[in-house]
Amino acid sequence: MPRSLPRLIFWGVLLLVLAAGGALAYISSGIYDIAATKQHIAPVYWALTTARRQSIRARVIGETPPANLTDANVVATGLALYDQHCRQCHGAPGLPPDAIGLGMMPAPPNFAQMARDLSAPEIHWAISNGIKLTGMPAWKFRLTEPERWALVAFLKSSLNITPADYRARRKQPASEEQPKPRQPEAPWDPKDADQRGRVAILQYACETCHVIPGIRGPDAHVGPPLAGIAGQLYIAGVLRNTPDHMIAWLRDPQRIDPLSAMPNLGVSEHDARDIATYLYSLR
Ligand code: HEC
Ligand code: HEC
Repeated sequence: MPRSLPRLIFWGVLLLVLAAGGALAYISSGIYDIAATKQHIAPVYWALTTARRQSIRARVIGETPPANLTDANVVATGLALYDQHCRQCHGAPGLPPDAIGLGMMPAPPNFAQMARDLSAPEIHWAISNGIKLTGMPAWKFRLTEPERWALVAFLKSSLNITPADYRARRKQPASEEQPKPRQPEAPWDPKDADQRGRVAILQYACETCHVIPGIRGPDAHVGPPLAGIAGQLYIAGVLRNTPDHMIAWLRDPQRIDPLSAMPNLGVSEHDARDIATYLYSLR
């Protein structure tokens, strides 16, 4: 045995003790900012999303979904349950999440993105068991097995359900649907508008539908990536790209294009200005 081995072990243990002490000091110092308005740093975001994806994948190997997932009655049952229990957080065709879903970190993924990214058994597992550290509840003790599969059936066919169709089929009154923009607390200030815009983007969950430089999100392609928006001639193909038009679009896309899949998110005038400033700073 080489004589340096005990010394190596000594240094190894010392390093571990120092690292553990450092971590403990960091945790108890209060330096870490737990605000839901702050996005995770890249390595933490990567670790959390990879762990989630791999954990769900590993738990559904060999599982097959029931045969009736495309049955119209099952989808209808799923739509009603979804509207009651899920839309508040994940949005629905043409409809935004409620305030509770918009303020969360991580933001609940958009329904269309989940329908595309996850297999039926994966969706079923996530619904049944929930996801730790995210705010996604477990539904096993609240909904029956057929009800949870009906939710899967709805999600898997949700891309074929238009906003008008969804509105017509849900039971909630339409008047509940317009989110109220928050009131400004001071006159709009151009200073640091791009920095405020970056925070606002997360608080309106824009990253659940768009890939946006500087914003960590689920690589969502429900809407177009916004990297080159500053150089584009038109917004959504219907409006000339000017700051005022951009603000109008962000505040109520469906007033401009009733068929748009981008919902009214209740963006206030000031927040829209901040967000537009951030988007135009992307070159
Ligand atoms: C209180 C808000 C909330 C409610 C209500 C909610 N979810 Fe979630 N859901 C989340 C959050 C947050 C995540 C995790 C996001 C992350 O990890 O990035 C999530 C994750 C998921 C996932 C996994 C997504 C993925 O990419 O792995 C599925 C599927 C899902 N939810 C479906 C549903 C369904 C169906 C319902 C209704 C029965 C529902 N959720 C209700 C907040 C919610
Ligand atoms: C539920 C998904 C969804 C959310 C949330 C969402 N968008 Fe969109 N967005 C879309 C879709 C879909 C389009 C394409 C619309 C169209 O062409 O009618 C779009 C279009 C746009 C466009 C025009 C893009 C272009 O290439 O012309 C901009 C800018 C935009 N969104 C910004 C935002 C911002 C900022 C937010 C957050 C405040 C946001 N979106 C939230 C789905 C979404």
